[in-house]
Amino acid sequence: QQNKLWGGRFSESTDQFVQEFTASVNFDRRMYRQDIFGSQAHATMLAEVGVLTDEERDAIINGLAEIQKEIEAGEFQWSVALEDVHMNIEARLTDKIGITGKKLHTGRSRNDQVATDIRLWLRDEMLIMEEQYLHLMTGLLNLAEREAATIMPGFTHLQTAQPVTFGHHLLAWFEMLKRDRERLLDCKKRVNRMPLGAAALAGTTYPINRERTCELLGFDGVCENSLDAVSDRDFAIEFCALAALTMTHLSRISEELVLWTSAQFNFINLPDRFCTGSSIMPQKKNPDVPELVRGKTGRVNGHLISLLTLMKSQPLAYNKDNQEDKEPLYDAVDTIKGSLRAFGDMIPALEPNREVMREAARRGFATATDLADYLVRKGIAFRDSHEIVGKAVAYGVEKKKDLSDMSLSELKQFSDQIEDDVFDVLTLEGSVSARNHIGGTAPDQVRAAVARARQALDNT
Ligand code: ARG
Repeated sequence: QQNKLWGGRFSESTDQFVQEFTASVNFDRRMYRQDIFGSQAHATMLAEVGVLTDEERDAIINGLAEIQKEIEAGEFQWSVALEDVHMNIEARLTDKIGITGKKLHTGRSRNDQVATDIRLWLRDEMLIMEEQYLHLMTGLLNLAEREAATIMPGFTHLQTAQPVTFGHHLLAWFEMLKRDRERLLDCKKRVNRMPLGAAALAGTTYPINRERTCELLGFDGVCENSLDAVSDRDFAIEFCALAALTMTHLSRISEELVLWTSAQFNFINLPDRFCTGSSIMPQKKNPDVPELVRGKTGRVNGHLISLLTLMKSQPLAYNKDNQEDKEPLYDAVDTIKGSLRAFGDMIPALEPNREVMREAARRGFATATDLADYLVRKGIAFRDSHEIVGKAVAYGVEKKKDLSDMSLSELKQFSDQIEDDVFDVLTLEGSVSARNHIGGTAPDQVRAAVARARQALDNT
């Protein structure tokens, strides 16, 4: 079958392979709803400005609605010969309603049509994602509140550093996602602009009313320059950038979950429904969900680079190169939605092994800094107290004793400034509650941070 929609100037038919090579319908058909929605708005506007009669408009709008039903019922015959989603639907419309169908494309080009469809599609997907971010973030806040006083080791260089509360750690994850969601909301301002009316590149000679179409489609405004409107895909790049950052954040969380569910850490139990087994090793319970999310980060990072490279050096205005924008964008959306969903389900189900976490903090000399600070309060300069505590730690390593397990006389060998009150600061609870300022790990601060975060979420 030959493409009848632009064949006028051609004297031989398209090479069979070229036809398949240049077609996009096998992937861009997932924008059929947006394509129909955009066409219906375009027809409505054309009738209002007198380019179509009301009867023509109605025939087009109803015909498109029927086509949507055919597609959704799986009855639509997609044809590679018709290249893309736009021409497939338009050709079917003409099949159904005759010559009026051929009037739909008045004052429009596939160049502004496709740019409009992608933006509508991405906008719809971003709306779903907004909810997914919220769901995951709310799960983190609830868990953080419950675990506000749960003690675990905090790490730097993956070595035990200072005790922190698990709630505080969860709130660090929350902050990452909070910024990602802000980026999503901000990106939406630039995604939700309407290219339609730009036509092929220069605008159109028909008396179109872009503001009206814009209103019908729920865009925040029109793209101000027709050349720019059909050619730039920066909004998709920007989206992929924020998606890549979210995946990067999820990959960091994943890495911690993989470590923490290992027998060696054993900080966390992940319910069986988020894990899989091994076909050879009967004892295995693998944290597949976080591992997969960690792995999928690579795809989204790759899509960002693909789109940047696709856009680079393209002359104005539309070039066929831009047909390559869709698969990376679709996959970025699918990947981030799947990952957000998996995390949204999984996070509330984490089961911390509180005693194991606490014991890990106790064993790692996590309160060494607290002892150094204690000596400073007794009048010793910090560098000297650092040295003193370092010696006490070396002694502890040799004797296999935590600082809090040493007797007062043992501790006094390192400084006679150490007195009975030292044990208040050497306890894990003392250590975390002493970091009692905004952004600190004290349980009270964690609870206050959760309350502030809830409030802020309610206001967005
Ligand atoms: N399938 C095309 C795309 O995805 C639609 C626009 C084609 N326009 C053109 N003049 N070839 O970009």
